[in-house]
Amino acid sequence: MERLQKVIAHAGVASRRKAEELILTGRVKVNGKTIRELGTKVSPTDKIEVDEVPVVQEEKRYFLLYKPRGIISAVSDDKGRKVVTDFFPNIEERIYPVGRLDYDTSGLLILTNDGEFSNLLAHPRYGIKKLYIAKVKGIPTKEDLKKLEKGIHLEDGKTAPAKVKLTSTDKRKGTAIVEVTLHEGRNRQVRRMLEAIGHPVMKLKREQYGFLNLHGLNAGESRELTLHEVKHLRTLAQTGKIGHI
Ligand code: URA
Repeated sequence: MERLQKVIAHAGVASRRKAEELILTGRVKVNGKTIRELGTKVSPTDKIEVDEVPVVQEEKRYFLLYKPRGIISAVSDDKGRKVVTDFFPNIEERIYPVGRLDYDTSGLLILTNDGEFSNLLAHPRYGIKKLYIAKVKGIPTKEDLKKLEKGIHLEDGKTAPAKVKLTSTDKRKGTAIVEVTLHEGRNRQVRRMLEAIGHPVMKLKREQYGFLNLHGLNAGESRELTLHEVKHLRTLAQTGKIGHI
């Protein structure tokens, strides 16, 4: 269910503000009945009319993008840099990223035009598990990694427990590969956590989001999520469990 004014705006009939005006002045009908309340929620099957003209509700779309590095997680950029929606030139619906990956971070990003779904995934209640692979400067000790696992103090508070694994080291170059699994999604969290133990991130990639991974995709490629995947992501965000997949 979505707010009536939002659905009208998404259908391209009017801006959100203008849509509110249309409702308040009695020009909007839902299933044949004039609606004047701004909080009214409608479903995709409700018949909406503005001045007796049917409003075609935008179809909900869900995509998984393998975001390359050097791309902004937004729908536009005032400096003209490339943004994630540039990878979907033929999609008419107004999709946008769910959360964000930093400009320099690559990996799995979901895009949709379903606001309710997007809010659900972003909700911290059950925080969907995300797996990041980081190349770091220096070789962290077991004690360093334990600190991250337990939670570490950052400027916006202590991080929740995380799973952290050292997967390889390059003693000659003085670098290491660390896998970090988080349920939280704070701004630049992985970079800040590793920086806090003295091992700044040189390269970062999000490899998994819940049960989704990047298999079969190269950087810059995307695919539509299946209905099954969307349903399971919803369940995961609502209950912390995925049920049978
Ligand atoms: N953590 C980061 O530091 N950057 C991202 O893009 C995502 C998580």
